[in-house]
Amino acid sequence: MVNEKPKLEVCLSPALLHLYHTRDTVTVIIDVFRATSTIVAALDNGAKCVIPVASVAECIALGATIPNSITAGERDGKIAEGLQHGNSPSEYPTAFIKGKTLILTTTNGTRLLHMVKDASAIVIGSFLNLDALCAYLLSKGKNVLLGCASWKDKFNLEDTLFAGAVIHQLSGSFEMNCDSARAAVHLYHQSGGNYLEFLKDSSHYKRLSAYNLQEDMAYCATPNLHPVVPYLRGTEIVI
Ligand code: MLT
Repeated sequence: MVNEKPKLEVCLSPALLHLYHTRDTVTVIIDVFRATSTIVAALDNGAKCVIPVASVAECIALGATIPNSITAGERDGKIAEGLQHGNSPSEYPTAFIKGKTLILTTTNGTRLLHMVKDASAIVIGSFLNLDALCAYLLSKGKNVLLGCASWKDKFNLEDTLFAGAVIHQLSGSFEMNCDSARAAVHLYHQSGGNYLEFLKDSSHYKRLSAYNLQEDMAYCATPNLHPVVPYLRGTEIVI
């Protein structure tokens, strides 16, 4: 009997999610600038867990009930009114975040997390945990969906480039007959592995640069600073 390889597909926007089967797949949530980078950094730096929530009101209400928690997030890239902190990985060094619960709401990343209902596992991907994530996906041997959070349902370069970097590592081990995966890997090759330079010409880089967040983006584009694989356990993201 021929051993079939698991399948890997790329969903380029939450608006396309209904076209894919997430049931029994490992679904990777990708929001390079910046939600999934912030989640990976905060957890690797010792956060107890991250609770992704849909709205600012929910974030504030939950924060009032959980001891040692921080309410954080953004709308349109800026700290949302009423929250204590933003969506910047640099806001969560060990000295600050260790042992705390981070309650996070963002424009696109946390939204996609809530849209995926029936996956066998939901894990968090970013350049910060690229190699660890690839090793995890290989070890599972299950079908994979790489889900790009994009920007308000519109295609974005940073999440697609990251999907391409994952595919570049995994291609021999998965069956890939998916044109969005092919496009992602073409982008990866075009970047020459210089993610930050490539992403400087992207809409969200320009949007966040207007708020002087270039250092954040340089951080988010650095591979393997945080070799952990966060996953959703009930309502909490943990490692
Ligand atoms: C998002 O979820 O849309 C983002 O992470 C936006 C950002 O803070 O850059």
